[in-house]
Amino acid sequence: MNCSTLGIGLAGFGTVGSGVWNTLARNGHLITSRTGGGITLEVTRILVRDPAKSRATTGEVPAALFTTAWQVLVNDPAVHIVVELIGGTTDAFELVAAALRAKKPVVTGNKALLAERGIELFAISRESNTPIHFEAAVAGGIPIIRTVQDSFIGNRIRSFSGIINGTSNFILGRMTEAALTFEAALAEAQALGYAEADPTLDVNGWDAAHKALLLATLAYGFPIDPAAIHVSGIEQVRPADIAFAKSLGYVLKLLAVVREHANRAVEIRIQPSFVPKSHILASVNGVFNAVAVHGDTAGESLFYGRGAGQDPTASSVVADLVEAARALRHTGDHRGFLPYADSGTLVPVGETSTAYYVRFDVTDRPGVIAEIARLLADHRIGISGTHSPVNPDNPDADFVDMIFLLHTCPFGKLQAALTEIEALDCVNSTPVVFRIEALT
Ligand code: NAP
Ligand code: HSE
Repeated sequence: MNCSTLGIGLAGFGTVGSGVWNTLARNGHLITSRTGGGITLEVTRILVRDPAKSRATTGEVPAALFTTAWQVLVNDPAVHIVVELIGGTTDAFELVAAALRAKKPVVTGNKALLAERGIELFAISRESNTPIHFEAAVAGGIPIIRTVQDSFIGNRIRSFSGIINGTSNFILGRMTEAALTFEAALAEAQALGYAEADPTLDVNGWDAAHKALLLATLAYGFPIDPAAIHVSGIEQVRPADIAFAKSLGYVLKLLAVVREHANRAVEIRIQPSFVPKSHILASVNGVFNAVAVHGDTAGESLFYGRGAGQDPTASSVVADLVEAARALRHTGDHRGFLPYADSGTLVPVGETSTAYYVRFDVTDRPGVIAEIARLLADHRIGISGTHSPVNPDNPDADFVDMIFLLHTCPFGKLQAALTEIEALDCVNSTPVVFRIEALT
């Protein structure tokens, strides 16, 4: 290895890890020439669970590179930068912590790890003066982390809003365009390498929540307890909801909202939302993500691109690798992220306000609509519309779904009303609530 070559320990050789290998094999010469011949990146170790697995890669991967013990990778003197792409929060934590303690910069795409255990890891990063880079952790191939860290450094961030989980956006799109079932659409997302190893986090909203937490931490700089974030996923979305949204001029999206309030309080919530068809976020389809950033000086900017998948994510990882390599070459000048230097609080979700779409599963009998409406009125919640699907071939058939569109009110007020409504004997299960988002 010559003096300008830096060794990469690639922990994880699945969708993203093998994408990093392929990108370096294909475009490594560009990095060398664009850094004035200063940096050549060479994978010197690869961590996997099963070295015997057959893997489709650009060029042959020497069998001697593989190990199944992360300690071997971290402690290898030929590894100068560690890339963590194994996922999860246990082994990945040990590996990243050990790499930082060994003063080896870390590049990771693991948003769950940073959202759940970032406070511990950034403390180790500070103590060892060794950076963690995580561009790939939010919105796949979109360079949103660097943009917020660098381009918005002179802005107070007023808000982020966007679509930051590719799998759920892909699923909602396939349910809409191809009338696929939820399960069939999820299977496609998995086959395309968009979903997490355990797709539960994609569909229950937590993958988007981890990313929203990272954006909020970058912007506001105080520790955020993931358990305090309001998260609701797409599991309860039915084709009928999508069709109803469409008939009203909306598109149903899993939306992440991070917004600054007065007194250093921040609102963070993730939920299926009706987005006006005319809004640009309504046109973000398939695996694409989009993040609208509102800075007090820059105003609103929109960032759009592929939010998941092998090559887009590898693009972000490789960009971080070059940044880590540059910092190693010019020590003392690493652009680390300095989180938790500030203070702030989360706005309780009960105090956040939007309009709502609520679907009730009811037993059809005279008075059912009136009973629900009365309880909403008791809580001073205005109704902007009601709907129950009618079978044109049998207009006397009992309906099951009763939909209410509600005027803007605090979520806490709605929850109080819904608790009473759910107790009615004509209401058969917990009402399903989606937000109607007034995006500007
Ligand atoms: P993946 O396809 O499931 O690959 C995981 C890799 O890690 C596999 O090579 C696996 O080995 C290895 N591995 C897992 N646990 C291990 C352990 N305990 N010890 C040793 N090796 C282990 O996952 P991925 O989709 O590439 O995602 C990797 C990370 O990137 C995750 O944190 C994910 O959230 C993040 N990310 C993914 C995407 C995406 O579009 N997929 C986008 C952005 C960020 P084997 O190959 O032997 O099974
Ligand atoms: N599973 C994630 C998604 C990968 O679908 O957005 C990118 O973080």
